[in-house]
Amino acid sequence: MISFASFSVIFAILFTTIPSVKSQSLPPTGEISFSPRFLDSVLQDHAFRAISRHRPRTGVVYDGNVPSNLTGSTVSALRLRSGSLRKRGFHGYKEFDIPKGILEDPYVERVILVYHNLGNWSSVYYRLPGYSFLSPVVGLLAYNAVDLTAKGLPELDLRASENPILVKFETLGVSPDGVLPKCVFFDLFGGVVFDRVLNRSICSSETQGHFGIVVEERNQSPIPAPPKVPEYPIAGGESTGGGGGRKKGWWIGGSVAGGVLLAAVLAILVLWVRWCSGRKKIGKMKDAAEGGAPLAVAAVGRAKVPVAMGTRTKPVLENEYVS
Ligand SMILES: *[C@@H]1O[C@H](CO)[C@@H](O)[C@H](O)[C@H]1NC(C)=O
Ligand SMILES: *[C@@H]1O[C@H](CO)[C@@H](O)[C@H](O)[C@H]1NC(C)=O
Ligand SMILES: *[C@@H]1O[C@H](CO)[C@@H](O)[C@H](O)[C@H]1NC(C)=O
Repeated sequence: MISFASFSVIFAILFTTIPSVKSQSLPPTGEISFSPRFLDSVLQDHAFRAISRHRPRTGVVYDGNVPSNLTGSTVSALRLRSGSLRKRGFHGYKEFDIPKGILEDPYVERVILVYHNLGNWSSVYYRLPGYSFLSPVVGLLAYNAVDLTAKGLPELDLRASENPILVKFETLGVSPDGVLPKCVFFDLFGGVVFDRVLNRSICSSETQGHFGIVVEERNQSPIPAPPKVPEYPIAGGESTGGGGGRKKGWWIGGSVAGGVLLAAVLAILVLWVRWCSGRKKIGKMKDAAEGGAPLAVAAVGRAKVPVAMGTRTKPVLENEYVS
């Protein structure tokens, strides 16, 4: 028989390829517009407009307007010289304390740090089944400041080379007794990482992205899988625990003839997967060499669907940290 490992690889492949085909046939309305990356590009545009309305100065926080279909969230922009960001950082940019030693890649002369507070939209754009948010989701994203009219800009890669960036939440919801709140970090590629909360309300990070404080929900009946979240197609243990029952039933239920046919198909898939993963590795090495940010650009720029495809490899993280 085929080993469990190759079996799960096959499922991973099925779950990564099939949804991408499906999502392309969806009309470009509804759920798809709740893509966090699409939101990032909308808010980038609005934050930049806030700066270009003024005679922009560096080191000043400008609050922007959000489109009416995002009422309840806020966006701000802060333009800084790279040198100043590296030498001094910026303390008290809304919830964010940005330490010195922040480097951006590729290097630009001035950066714009865009701040998001998603308010009551937090759990719409950042669904986290089984958890509830005690804080709004806030975001910090870095862009090149050279063109204030730019749309669909790629993020710069932002790294804290000395101390981490701190996110200090002011008002938190009350967590149920005995349930420990956790920081949650959403990177730009669909990855989710949980971390300890410092001093009751502080999260820390080496890089940019979106942050919140969450608690695990209790007395939950089995968590319903998120119906349509293009960003996290392999999340939630599709290849390990969660979906196992369903797959097993289907596996056993198949007729003997079907089983034989399936085994043949699977064998072909295994060979194909091996061949593909060899190629993917090379592809990934190339991507890494070119830096992550430009990939995201192309994805946001072209359409909403490719955005999801670009984020498809990382969500595995979620399994590791949730359980
Ligand atoms: C808000 O509405 C506009 C048009 O009314 C639409 O183009 C845009 O996608 C919507 N934005 C979000 C974030 O849903
Ligand atoms: C958030 O609140 C605003 C009003 O403050 C409302 O217009 C909007 O529909 C709300 N959004 C959600 C997702 O409930
Ligand atoms: C947590 O609180 C202690 C004492 O008030 C302080 O020294 C420390 O810097 C705080 N940590 C952070 C990450 O702010």
